[in-house]
Amino acid sequence: MENKEGLQKILEGNKDWMNFVRNDKTSRFEQLAKGQNPEILWIGCADSRVPANEITGKKPGEVFVHRNIANMCIHSDMSMLSVLDYAVNILKVKHIIVAGHYGCGGVAASLSGKQFGIIDNWLSHIKDVYRLYAKEIDAIDDIEKKADRLVELNVKEQVFNLCTTSIVQNAWKNNQDLAIHGTVIHIGTGELVDLNNTFTSNEALGKVFAFK
Ligand code: CO
Repeated sequence: MENKEGLQKILEGNKDWMNFVRNDKTSRFEQLAKGQNPEILWIGCADSRVPANEITGKKPGEVFVHRNIANMCIHSDMSMLSVLDYAVNILKVKHIIVAGHYGCGGVAASLSGKQFGIIDNWLSHIKDVYRLYAKEIDAIDDIEKKADRLVELNVKEQVFNLCTTSIVQNAWKNNQDLAIHGTVIHIGTGELVDLNNTFTSNEALGKVFAFK
């Protein structure tokens, strides 16, 4: 019974949203039904407090979105790679935004040393980032500041991971207009901060990852 009421509220919310979009002349359903042409791919955390469209002030049809726990871009994640391939090669997005957020539960969990179940195997990818920057992270005493710094460094590494993919490197090789940006969200203010970690070519990847 409780579930039914919950669903009812979701459906009512949908009606409100339909009215809102119908009244918005720049983003009507008839236009959306014809197809999508977003310029942005957003890769963010699954956290309920960081909705891509709301945070960027974008309407339906303007942002292609992939979200998972702690906004990870893992080399062999077929879900992420499929989204990336479609966004870059079919939609021809111009910007990819990797958006971390302070207070990220996934990042905090990866620092805790505790077991949480199957998710521990996913969190190991964040621990890989921690290991890479252990000296810097360990020098921070405050546990929240430690986690927040790891949030930033994790974004940096996920941006790097995207750049290493054949999908992104081939787009650059073909002179496609594509920039990959690292950003972080302050949940308490809603601000999206540029981490000044933008890549537009594979020049900075080094000999290990840059394809010739
Ligand atoms: Co998070």
